[in-house]
Amino acid sequence: MLNGKKILVGITGGISAYKTASLIRLLVKAGAEVKAVMSGAAKEFVSPLTIATLSKNPVYTDFFNPENGEWHSHVKLGIWADLYIIAPATANTIAKIAHGIADNLLLTTVLSARCKVMVAPAMDLDMYQNAVTQQNIATLRNRGFLFSEAQEGELASGLSGKGRMAEPEDILQNVEQYFAQNQDFKGRKILITAGPTREKIDPVRFVSNYSTGKMGYAIAECLAERGAEVILVSGPVDLKPRHSNINLVSVESAKEMYQACVEHFPKCHAAIMSAAVADYAPKIIAPKKIKKNGESEMTLTLVPNPDIAAALGKIKTENQVFAGFALETENEFANAQKKLESKNFDFIVLNSLKDRGAGFGYDTNKISIVFRNGNTENFDLKPKTEVAKDIAQCLLQLLK
Ligand code: CTP
Repeated sequence: MLNGKKILVGITGGISAYKTASLIRLLVKAGAEVKAVMSGAAKEFVSPLTIATLSKNPVYTDFFNPENGEWHSHVKLGIWADLYIIAPATANTIAKIAHGIADNLLLTTVLSARCKVMVAPAMDLDMYQNAVTQQNIATLRNRGFLFSEAQEGELASGLSGKGRMAEPEDILQNVEQYFAQNQDFKGRKILITAGPTREKIDPVRFVSNYSTGKMGYAIAECLAERGAEVILVSGPVDLKPRHSNINLVSVESAKEMYQACVEHFPKCHAAIMSAAVADYAPKIIAPKKIKKNGESEMTLTLVPNPDIAAALGKIKTENQVFAGFALETENEFANAQKKLESKNFDFIVLNSLKDRGAGFGYDTNKISIVFRNGNTENFDLKPKTEVAKDIAQCLLQLLK
């Protein structure tokens, strides 16, 4: 079931670390190649020798071996793994991950991992219920971390409640499910546009919008994880694609985005246009910084940019699935319907700026998906990583 999968297991200092030995055995038996990284405290609970023997690989505990100076690179480990499981994940480690703290090899590897990270929390019930722990868990979920849920039962403290680490068999099942459902886009090439465009006024100024690219990048990651080869044509954003199936094409202006899309779209099975493209650009880009001229008004003449979606809609073939976004502030459904038809989309993702937590900059979004036949599906407010899954599901159905 897990043949050829490379799994990195991170062990932190909790009593249930003893169960991780069984988990490693199960993963190896299922065909996975396993490496383990242990925090300093984890070594108090289970011996590195046990873990090394079961995983059939040396265990990583420190950045370098003090005896021979051999360097253990968190970057290499993070790139090597197809999945990183942290079991047990203590409240302390979860808090550190939520805040980007990287004070040991296990945590540094979380920051540099290109794969999904699955967390199996394990702690006493009061620590688990504590508001700060719950908030940290929610932060990780929003960022797309996977969870092997803590279970109810007797705890090491003698108390009873939620906080036990999931049983190794349950974690194995989650891992198998992850890899099984994960590859339903294999063999598909998908174009995604994301972020804003910048339209130059002069060497130091531009016209743009508030798009951060979060939604488009979340879709790209989601499809890449599920096996798609993604071409992400992105305007200037602060994000970086993590998955190695994503080929980033960085552009700045709408014209550059248009060129890249027209070049790549014919080779793709589908395209999702999530970029917030500037509809107009300055007619003239001043070669030097425009100086104040002392007048009370200044006029900037703008000319229309190419409508990228409309252009692709024209060359789209019957076998390609084509989707877009509509960000509206009024007459949402009527406007979305119009765009759906005029740009030849198969479906359009509508988000309204009237909805709290939806639109530019938020980590959440609230969408409706409108189809060509007039059917509409409404979704709740949820993290963009989850919204991406809903959009992927629609796409998958149409690709089939
Ligand atoms: N789009 C595009 N190229 C443009 C403008 C928009 O590819 N020049 C795409 C967007 O990525 C989105 C869809 O078209 O998928 C709708 O974008 P939106 O900005 O909502 O609509 P516009 O067509 O620009 O219309 P308006 O700004 O008048 O609402």
